[in-house]
Amino acid sequence: MVLLEFSMYPTDKGEGVSQYVGRILEIIDDSGLPYKLGPMGTCIEGEWDEVMAVVGRCREALATDCNRIACQIKIDDRQQFFDLHKNSFDLDVVVERSVNHSRAVHALKIFSDHGIPTVNAPEVAEVCGSKFLTTQALIKAGIRTPRCFLAFTPESALEAMDRLGYPCVIKPTTGSWGRLISKINDRDAAEAVLEHKQILGSYHHSIFYIQEYVEKKGKDIRSFVVGGECIAAIYRHAEHWITNTARGGSTTNCSVSDELHEISVKAAQACGGGVVAIDVFENDDGYSINEVNYTMEFRNSIDVTGVNIPARIVDYILEVGRK
Ligand SMILES: Nc1ncnc2c1ncn2[C@@H]1O[C@H](COP(=O)(O)OP(=O)(O)O)[C@@H](O)[C@H]1O
Ligand SMILES: [Mg+2]
Repeated sequence: MVLLEFSMYPTDKGEGVSQYVGRILEIIDDSGLPYKLGPMGTCIEGEWDEVMAVVGRCREALATDCNRIACQIKIDDRQQFFDLHKNSFDLDVVVERSVNHSRAVHALKIFSDHGIPTVNAPEVAEVCGSKFLTTQALIKAGIRTPRCFLAFTPESALEAMDRLGYPCVIKPTTGSWGRLISKINDRDAAEAVLEHKQILGSYHHSIFYIQEYVEKKGKDIRSFVVGGECIAAIYRHAEHWITNTARGGSTTNCSVSDELHEISVKAAQACGGGVVAIDVFENDDGYSINEVNYTMEFRNSIDVTGVNIPARIVDYILEVGRK
């Protein structure tokens, strides 16, 4: 794991370099790596290749119209591994913010087994990280969720899609930001996607998670549950059927009705509770729960809801730490 602090600016553009710095900040933000802006530079965290690639992209972005670029870099390269036999932690509470599901679950399990409270619990991460386990938990708890089939071979997946009818949706059981989810409009598309999955597919594509397509009229709901309370919700609007904000969906406030509060809290509890963000579909039949996310993102939701979501999360984390 590397912490890389750097500042980069052109030296041939005079005093006002804010438009160039703006360009760099956009690249850093788009990288998806955790970062912190400082008065003298920006600190990014990631693997060596990842952080160096960001610096490289920043340089390329300036080199298009700058002839001379100055860059200062400081690197803290730490070896990080867990000795499973030792409890060398002096921690009150651990907050998981990894974008990597597998690492998140393993790290949470290690801390939790050493008696350190974690947000969220490893069991919550395990269930929410799998669309299959989430669907199972929702069905078990009697919560409305789109009709779903699971198949193990392309042939049986095709049969399941025929049974469900078109359009339907196929997804990897683990994933986020709308990646690799496909709307299958007809049998031809089904055959094509299943063949691609079979031939190019990795471990993730050996399970076919097939879901009814829900007509949601250009928007779905993202509700935020913190410790048993639904603290806010947004609509995510998009012309595309995938509404994730990571894919360009725009957000507006969604007032939390009693019904939305109830289904959101129930869905959170079905998956083990804690701090979760819930994807809710709304149509003429009412609400249904699409999925429950355990590493909540909220950047585009604070202004539109007027709710200080990170502050509410911090309050909850402190509460968990004190118990
Ligand atoms: N069954 C469905 N019917 C209609 N739209 C869907 C369906 N499944 C997913 N979507 C759209 O795609 C988005 C991403 O799907 P989701 O299951 O939430 O995966 P991810 O984990 O990538 O966010 C949803 O927010 C929604 O806009
Ligand atoms: Mg989602």
